[in-house]
Amino acid sequence: MRVNVVVNGEKRQADNVWEGESLLYVLRERLGLAGSKNACEQGECGSCTVYLDGVPVCSCLVAAGQAEGREVRTVEGLADGDRLDPIQESFVEYGAIQCGFCTPGLLVTAHDLVARTTDPSDAEIREALAGNLCRCTGYEKILDAVRLAAARKENA
Ligand code: FES
Ligand code: FES
Repeated sequence: MRVNVVVNGEKRQADNVWEGESLLYVLRERLGLAGSKNACEQGECGSCTVYLDGVPVCSCLVAAGQAEGREVRTVEGLADGDRLDPIQESFVEYGAIQCGFCTPGLLVTAHDLVARTTDPSDAEIREALAGNLCRCTGYEKILDAVRLAAARKENA
């Protein structure tokens, strides 16, 4: 089947998609957007998180056909041209990245948190990121980065 989807503001089309194919597969293997990562393919790790119509979802759990006619925003769509999004800048500043496999999903989830929550508490940050697993960092620098991005938004 053919799937039409708007990805990062651009109309995209994927052909020969089979019924069981995930949105994650279409993004990575058919549309060349390899930012979203495939770690568990079971909705357990959050590394594949993208926005679907403005809501963060695990793209490994979304059938490609479910995305027909809808809007997807991936980690590649967070930056404004060459200008990183503030959440990306914060991750870089705090070195909240080691192997980087979890990073795209964490960025999308944290981006959503900062967009919808004013001055999130540590508990709110932990709750929001609970579905995004990181095997490397111990989370402290990730929490620092999210706090920084939230504070900067507050003071902007
Ligand atoms: S790859 Fe989708 S949740 Fe792990
Ligand atoms: S930086 Fe390696 S899994 Fe998070």
